[in-house]
Amino acid sequence: MRPAFPKKTSPWFWLLLKLSVVLSLTCIVLFASSPNAMKIIVYDDPSHTRSSSTTLPTPDSDESDSPHPGHFSTLLANVNNSLLHSVQQQCTDSQRQTIRSQLPPQACEEDKGKYGGRRCSFSLATRCSDAIWFAEFWKEAAQRGVNRPTAIYVGCNKGMDAVNTLRMISENPEFDKSVWQKEILSNVLSRNQTIVPGACNQENAPQFDISTLQGTARTASDSTASVFCIEAMPQTANQLNRSSHQLGWQNSFVVTNAAISSTDGVALFPSGQAGQKIGVEHMGLGDCLRQSTKHLCAEVQQYTLDTYFDKFLRKDSWIDFLSIDVEGYDWDVLMSASKALERVKYLEFEFHRVGSWQQHSLKSAIDHLDTKGFVCYWAGAHGHIWRITNCWMEYYNRKVWSNVACVDPWSAPALATRMELMFQETLAAGDQIKYVPK
Ligand SMILES: *[C@@H]1O[C@H](CO)[C@@H](O)[C@H](O)[C@H]1NC(C)=O
Ligand SMILES: *[C@@H]1O[C@H](CO)[C@@H](O)[C@H](O)[C@H]1NC(C)=O
Ligand SMILES: *[C@@H]1O[C@H](CO)[C@@H](O)[C@H](O)[C@H]1NC(C)=O
Repeated sequence: MRPAFPKKTSPWFWLLLKLSVVLSLTCIVLFASSPNAMKIIVYDDPSHTRSSSTTLPTPDSDESDSPHPGHFSTLLANVNNSLLHSVQQQCTDSQRQTIRSQLPPQACEEDKGKYGGRRCSFSLATRCSDAIWFAEFWKEAAQRGVNRPTAIYVGCNKGMDAVNTLRMISENPEFDKSVWQKEILSNVLSRNQTIVPGACNQENAPQFDISTLQGTARTASDSTASVFCIEAMPQTANQLNRSSHQLGWQNSFVVTNAAISSTDGVALFPSGQAGQKIGVEHMGLGDCLRQSTKHLCAEVQQYTLDTYFDKFLRKDSWIDFLSIDVEGYDWDVLMSASKALERVKYLEFEFHRVGSWQQHSLKSAIDHLDTKGFVCYWAGAHGHIWRITNCWMEYYNRKVWSNVACVDPWSAPALATRMELMFQETLAAGDQIKYVPK
């Protein structure tokens, strides 16, 4: 027999009810204010998710700073829902056919060993990616409403790309590649070190043209852009840090000497004699595992990307741009990032035949990023870009030096729109695009 419901509700009932209401409200507030929670919202209808999040730090106007009037409406003008939908679609057979004709599989499958796969189409197409979609997207007035734009370079190298990105997102002409290069060079020469040229001629590539920016300039209050430059090689990090301080850029160009990998701890990294060459791109963690070169190594702090974010970044900040270039250990960096990736709008990484890629497939990285909401593309030059997510091909597992760019369509719908449009334009060019060995 069921006990009769008490006629008079006990005071405990009300106390418990109040407590549970308070608790659930707290949960809602906590949940809603973390970038993490916001990723869960599907990006079917960006106008809906944005208008419903008036009390939240939305990705494109983080913080509670004065919002930019009209910001969302201009932003949404660059978002095309039909393109955002198509990133979730599997490639059609005819799209696959076009991709295979533009990025032919033959050279990837055939020349095992001999050329290290460098004749493979997607390596030819992407090894020196120019990421013009990002620069073009950043020029649009709408994007420039972003407060405190932030970029992270894991594997900062000589800092050339990082300085150029700082120039772009800060819109401050003071950040200048030639000024940076001169500073680095004078530091290096005074210490009898040498600079090794970048594999993609980053030193001589033109820098971001600020005069092409649209709309009104940033005001001083919202131009607090930062680039976090993480470099594992002690000598190189030291030079970067010294140059940043000497130029008075240290608040915007923040250098950390650390390795980012799958665990927190200490890593061995080339230093001493080996470190006299600033910007050596092919030396990495692997060289310190070999007995013959081990004595040239020093201990360096190692963090997962999650730990680095916790330690060095503002808790509520979005990352507009994340570059990972760690000589074959990119997979470990990606896998070390779980919570961190939920705050990232756009990222680039290198696929390789060296480092930990020897044990891991590109597919596993693409799948991991897919679970974090990212859509990935082969990142070519001249606006040539091919979606990998939902358009997977077996031959993409051929391990060759190549570059991948991924965007989160929820937190960066305008950029995702632009990238998907570039993909469709690349396909529309048909036979005019073909990457085959000479
Ligand atoms: C969105 O993109 C599709 C496909 O490229 C295009 O046909 C359509 O006109 C675009 N819509 C708007 C409003 O720009
Ligand atoms: C750099 O090399 C020159 C010539 O070999 C030498 O005279 C000088 O002492 C060196 N400077 C330093 C800082 O090691
Ligand atoms: C960078 O230089 C500053 C000032 O000289 C110093 O306090 C800081 O510890 C250095 N950081 C790194 C990563 O070397």
